[in-house]
Amino acid sequence: MPINIAILASGNGSNAQSIMDKIAAGALDARLRLVVSNRPGAGVLERARAANIPCELLDHTLWPNRMAYDAALADVLKRHGAEYIVMAGYMRLVTARFLRAFDGRVLNVHPALLPSFPGLHGGAEALAYGVTLSGCTVHFVEEAVDSGPVIIQAAVPVRAGEDLESLMARIHTFEHRIYPQALQWLAQGRITKKGRRLCLTPTGAKPAPRGRDCLIWPPLEEGF
Ligand code: GAR
Repeated sequence: MPINIAILASGNGSNAQSIMDKIAAGALDARLRLVVSNRPGAGVLERARAANIPCELLDHTLWPNRMAYDAALADVLKRHGAEYIVMAGYMRLVTARFLRAFDGRVLNVHPALLPSFPGLHGGAEALAYGVTLSGCTVHFVEEAVDSGPVIIQAAVPVRAGEDLESLMARIHTFEHRIYPQALQWLAQGRITKKGRRLCLTPTGAKPAPRGRDCLIWPPLEEGF
């Protein structure tokens, strides 16, 4: 059974694009019910329109506070039949009430190996710190910033002398693979929670070809 998802994004939307592409390719068993952005002019809205996906702009500056905004957002998402909320470059904190409205079925991608370097500039802060391994994380969302049980992570080595633009571009390519993969595991009903730890039910799925220069765990499967 496909899962019904909605994407929240504030910017360019390259992660949203990778999810739309995997759905179109038949690798991800999901129906994208709605794309919402909180920022006028966000590239993600253009991408949704180009793919004929319903999209809405809910400009957060037009609501008096976070509670009121999140209530309106939850309403729109429910009206479109979203079961899972996929935050993909959504640069806002969500309220506890919003998370309860979706019973914990809210996911996020972050451009660092959580719990290190949470927040708006996690990628830049990891590089400035001088880590030799950075990467990205897909996780369930809890109230605290970039917290919540981890579904999948990709560790990406930092190259000698590499600048932020280059590192982030490489991290993005892994986000574009691990996010659709995590969603497909959800669609397959293969993720169970044991406290903070998640278990992935194994199947006979073929592994994806292993790229050089990264470790992704759990390993990607064919199609991702
Ligand atoms: C992604 O790198 C995502 O990890 C990051 O925003 C970018 C959005 O790119 N999210 C965060 O930093 C959340 N703390 P996109 O709009 O091209 O998908």
